[in-house]
Amino acid sequence: MSLFAKFYDRCMAATERGGLSELRTELLATLTTEHPEPEVLELGAGTGVNLDHYPPGLARLVQTEPDPGMLTRLTHRARGRGFEAAGASALKLPYANASFDAVVITLVLCTVLDPSLALREAARVLRPGGRLLFIEHVGSEEASVLRWQQRIEPIWKLVAGGCCLTRDPRPLLAQAGLELESCTPGHLPNAPRFVSPMIRGVARRAVYSAH
Ligand SMILES: C[S@@+](CC[C@H](N)C(=O)[O-])C[C@H]1O[C@@H](n2cnc3c(N)ncnc32)[C@H](O)[C@@H]1O
Repeated sequence: MSLFAKFYDRCMAATERGGLSELRTELLATLTTEHPEPEVLELGAGTGVNLDHYPPGLARLVQTEPDPGMLTRLTHRARGRGFEAAGASALKLPYANASFDAVVITLVLCTVLDPSLALREAARVLRPGGRLLFIEHVGSEEASVLRWQQRIEPIWKLVAGGCCLTRDPRPLLAQAGLELESCTPGHLPNAPRFVSPMIRGVARRAVYSAH
């Protein structure tokens, strides 16, 4: 098992306690307020930390994760709750077009090799009108912090499973056919400044689109 998989939950504990847990719950609660019994796909689910935050009443939850170490933990946790875990990459999802009501990504677009392709795949598997729910850490809007992020990024990627510090997925959403409905900037609590800038929100697949 990679060190990243082994220590991920411990590394995130202070951030979760400081408020990330609440943000997860708040975001995922909207799954069932908009859609009764939705079918939900989560990308890059890691060790399954979101499992404690999904509301009751999902018709189906599939959690995907390509890292074998993460997947082992995820599978154990997900199956215990009657959900599915799959070793799929967000860059090539083994699901039919328009097969889910919602896609969830939390702290994943920083790490995938091609975030643009991951978002196109998310849009493809969403039903028309379906929603992408996200929490992502991003490059800072403050020039001085962004410069630090750019300097630290090469080393950070080595120790943090390929995580990039300077990305901004917002422009990629529209290119993937997803319309940004809400986006709240903020900071990951109890996290170093160079990794804390984040956005959370919702984007929707158009009701009429090419897929
Ligand atoms: C920082 S962790 C986030 C884990 C979890 N989503 C969370 O909210 O804590 C980033 C995750 O993205 C996963 N990942 C990396 N490349 C991926 C890809 N191509 N498709 C899906 N997930 C990927 C990693 O294996 C890792 O589990």
